[in-house]
Amino acid sequence: MDRQRKLYVRTYGCQMNVYDSERMAEAMGGQGYVSTDTPDDADMILLNTCHIREKAAEKVYSELGRFRGLKAANPELKIGVAGCVAQAEGAEILRRQPLVDLVVGPQSYHRLPELERQARAGTRALDTDFPAEDKFDRLAERPKAPRGPTAFLTVQEGCDKFCAFCVVPYTRGAEASRPAARVIAEARDLVARGVREITLLGQNVNAYHGAAPDGEWRLARLIRELAAIDGLERIRFTTSHPNDMDDDLIAAHGEVDKLMPYLHLPVQSGSDRVLKAMNRKHTAEGYLRLIERIRAARPDILISGDFIVGFPEETEADFAATMELVEAVEYGQCYSFKYSTRPGTPAAERAQVAEAEKDDRLHRLQALLGRQQRRVQDRMIGREVGVLFEKPGRAPGQMVGKSDHLHSVFVEAPVARGELARVRITGSAANSLAGTLA
Ligand code: SAH
Ligand code: SF4
Ligand code: F3S
Repeated sequence: MDRQRKLYVRTYGCQMNVYDSERMAEAMGGQGYVSTDTPDDADMILLNTCHIREKAAEKVYSELGRFRGLKAANPELKIGVAGCVAQAEGAEILRRQPLVDLVVGPQSYHRLPELERQARAGTRALDTDFPAEDKFDRLAERPKAPRGPTAFLTVQEGCDKFCAFCVVPYTRGAEASRPAARVIAEARDLVARGVREITLLGQNVNAYHGAAPDGEWRLARLIRELAAIDGLERIRFTTSHPNDMDDDLIAAHGEVDKLMPYLHLPVQSGSDRVLKAMNRKHTAEGYLRLIERIRAARPDILISGDFIVGFPEETEADFAATMELVEAVEYGQCYSFKYSTRPGTPAAERAQVAEAEKDDRLHRLQALLGRQQRRVQDRMIGREVGVLFEKPGRAPGQMVGKSDHLHSVFVEAPVARGELARVRITGSAANSLAGTLA
């Protein structure tokens, strides 16, 4: 028999790409590949790419160029491009970069083993179709290897919202939900392999409407059913759109103990004028009312979000409205970006804000968000929270895990990986908390 082939996967972008990379590695495991964490001894290199901001494609091309030497040393080496740049660029990648043997879009991963065989047989392979079926159903039966304490599980993919700045509806396609029974079976399998916390993933996860024996389930129903799985201790979900936060999902935050008090709810801007131009279909006031209702259901919930500064035609007054909204919400965590032009999206055609202006606004916004994050963290001091321990810390005898509110928490105590313990928070640093076992 041939020696085992080695697969090296490099993942960029969002958590869904992390999940997809795991699925692809498992599928290739069924073809005799084992994973390696360096490209140097790989027989196959797969770049799982992201297209969300500018220069993504150029970075992929320069990354690919760096594998030239490896390919010269090992003519058997196959190089593949997956993810959102693969979807957006398609055959252009094969044309521009002769080193590439296969290109596979996010909806075609079930065809990866077949594409790899085709590439090994000497024909460069491409698949960027949007097939109707669930790509995960047809991936090879997953090996029952033990897992760490946390896992992602994709329940929904694609987006129909078409925010004026965003490529996701083009790269991931139309919104689609996986049937409830498949999600539950996958969750049970993960728990049987040692997983105690599952994060449900979707580009618009709260738009979930999966087929179920008694009709369609929304996300809240799915969460309530998952909560009944013995051994599953924590449930999270990301990312949500404000307009899909239905009453039952808000109520679930107050009712389902296993649903963690953390919600990522991007608003992008605090200016109604900009929100309208972004095609967000909600107002700043509507968002603030929604946050109030969520906090009424679960008072200690930590809110996080995404912001874009310097969207085309954003004025200083628009930006001031964003700062005001941030003041009103008090975020525990946030991601903020300068607007980045994406060719093919409606906003790319509009008058752009000067780069220096974008830099200045991002700087001011991040300073405010940083202060809020620290304030929210500091308020945890003296409180007792659950922590799921994941790995040793840097100092000897230290373990680190995530709190219910998704803060990193360090303790100096002999706790095991995968242990869920009550911790009293004693200190707050730049990006983490310290505590002692309660
Ligand atoms: N609904 C998805 C959005 C994915 S993109 C989700 O939240 O998972 C993640 C974030 O990237 C968006 O919320 C937005 O803040 C940012 N983003 C998307 N397109 C962008 C662009 N063209 N320029 C700058 N930031 C962008
Ligand atoms: Fe992009 Fe908007 Fe869809 Fe999020 S909701 S994926 S930002 S189009
Ligand atoms: Fe990037 Fe595609 Fe995710 S563009 S953020 S990898 S959906």
